[in-house]
Order: sequence, then C-alpha cells, then structure tokens
Amino acid sequence: MILSIESSCDDSAIAITEIATKKLLFHKKISQELEHSVYGGVVPELAARLHAEALPKILEQVSKYFPKLKAVAVTATPGLAVSLVEGVTMAKAVAVAFDIPIIGVNHLIGHIYSLFIEKEAHFPLTVLLVSGGHTQVMEVKSLTEIETVAKSMDDSFGESFDKVAKMMHLGYPGGPAIEDLARGGDRLKHNFTVPLHQSPLIAFSYSGLKNAVRLALLEEEKREKPNFQDIAASFEYIATKHLTMKLKKYFKTNRPKTFAIVGGASANLYLRSQIKNLLQDYNAELLLSELKYCSDNAAMIGRVGVDMYKNKMFTSLAELKSSPRSTL
Ligand code: KG4
Ligand code: ZN
Repeated sequence: MILSIESSCDDSAIAITEIATKKLLFHKKISQELEHSVYGGVVPELAARLHAEALPKILEQVSKYFPKLKAVAVTATPGLAVSLVEGVTMAKAVAVAFDIPIIGVNHLIGHIYSLFIEKEAHFPLTVLLVSGGHTQVMEVKSLTEIETVAKSMDDSFGESFDKVAKMMHLGYPGGPAIEDLARGGDRLKHNFTVPLHQSPLIAFSYSGLKNAVRLALLEEEKREKPNFQDIAASFEYIATKHLTMKLKKYFKTNRPKTFAIVGGASANLYLRSQIKNLLQDYNAELLLSELKYCSDNAAMIGRVGVDMYKNKMFTSLAELKSSPRSTL
C-alpha cells in the first residue's frame, strides 16, 4: 500500500491506496476553508499551522495500515512553500520510521490522475487544468511526457472567481459561491470584454476581466437595490467564453481526441456544459473527475504514487525538496 499526503495549499489530506488494485482504501481531508474565509483568501502562515495540527490527526487514523506500507507519496511541488513543507516533512518522518521509499509528486500531475482514481490511466490526453493556482492546457502522452501548450499570463480561472467573490463579500473559496449566485442571473446583462479576444496568442488572462467586474460592482453599489447576481452570471459567462474561444483556436491545429478538465474549478457545471458543447464539433471524448476529486485531495496523489512506484520513481530522503514553482 501507498500512504499519500497532500498539503500544497489549504487542504490537509491523507490517503491509502492499494498498489496492485489501485483501490482507494482510505481518504480523509480536513479543509481550512472556514478559517481562511474571514480573510477572503488563503493566509500562508495560518495554513501551515493548521496543516501541522491536522496531518498528525489524520495519520493516527491510518495506523492499522502501517505494517503494509511500501512507499509514501507526497505533493512536493507546486504550492505554498510553507504548506508544502508540512507534508514533505511528515513524508520524510514516515519514510524513516518504516524504512520505505519516498515518491515526490507534482501536484499538477496529481490533478491529471484525479481522472483515474481506482482506474487504469490512459493516454494521450489533452487536459485543461483549472484551479486556484493554474489555468493551463497540457498535452499528456504519459506519466513523464507532459507538455504545457497554453497557460495564464496573470491570474488563474479559479483565482478570478475567488477575487470576484471577495469583492462581493461572499467569502472563500469564491468558485462555488459565484457559481451559485450566477445561477438564474442574466449572463448577457453586463457586456464584459472577452480577454485577449483579438490576440492571436493561445494564452489566458483574467486580471482585466476582474478589473472590469470591480468597476461594474462600484456602479451597481450606487443603486438602491444592487443586483450582484447578473454581474456574477456575466462574469462566469465571459470567464468561460475566454477558455472556450482559446481552446477553439488551439483545436484548429491540434484536434482533440480525448479531452479532460481537471482541478478545483472543473467542478463548475457551467464550464463543464460549455466544454461539452465545444467538443461535440470535434467528436471528441470528454473525461471528468468525480466532483469529490476535483479539488485538492490525497487520493489523486496516491494514484500518481502507484504509477510512480511501478516505474521506481523514488526520491532519496536528502533529495526530496518542496518547491513552490512547478517545472511543468
Ligand atoms: O485544485 P484546487 O482545489 O486548488 C488548487 O490547486 O489551486 O482549486 C481551488 C480553486 C479555487 O480557486 C476555487 O474557487 C475554485 O477552484 N473552484 C471553482 C469552483 N469550485 C472550486 N471555481 C469556479 N467554479 C466552481 N464551482
Ligand atoms: Zn490543486
């Protein structure tokens, strides 16, 4: 069995995965959303302190699996430096205590493998990762052959939802709050400009849209009965349209066969429906993670761990370092 640990941002999670069957035997996540919500975003020092409290609590619950552990997998990159180090330190302690190898996992590959919980992985895949830290399109040929073909030049898709929600005082994380508010709103009420719509670049940008929403909110607040619902709906509409327009451009030269959306924001049902519509024109298959594995979790890290274990992709105790920036 593999014990896996995820602590790259504000979720402390541990899973146990059986290597031979890929079966998920245990998964527990303690989310810090409530604690960060009052600040409208993740406060790194608070996140680190909460990981230090939560991870040992979860570890205690998996003690019956200790004798059967063959390796420990841990998110080593990318993420908040002070958060990553909590998981990595625990992984090192577990490796020393049970004399088992360590597998350092890239969190982004973890999100890709959230598609394959308790399943065989299959490639090639074109993947759109939409999370709080990333908005990128990747061509994935295998576990080790991953090419990023488009990414955000500034804010990420999820981050823009968080920031808009903060401006509307909806708390953190903003994605689900904005999605809820947008439901039933008029998507065409506010005519925000689609980012980079005239640019030939296949890249993403959300900072301009966020600013346009800020100005619309200022105007709306002057009204007797401000209506944030239409702003949320128009924002979600344009944020998603930006993704589908750039994907369409990319598909002109790289026709997708199997396309996947992963990451916390891939739980957004409007985004899912729009990508589904787009893919119909290409007769491409759409893969999605189960909703419970879209946001950060240790099950996806354990699932990568299984494939890395089979390929003997171990890291020595001294070499394993946490790194806030990813090389993908
Ligand atoms: O993958 P994830 O859990 O953490 C990172 O790796 O960043 O993604 C969290 C992000 C947050 O920005 C959150 O607001 C966003 O995913 N998110 C959503 C939705 N659910 C979560 N964004 C839009 N719509 C949603 N339904
Ligand atoms: Zn993530």
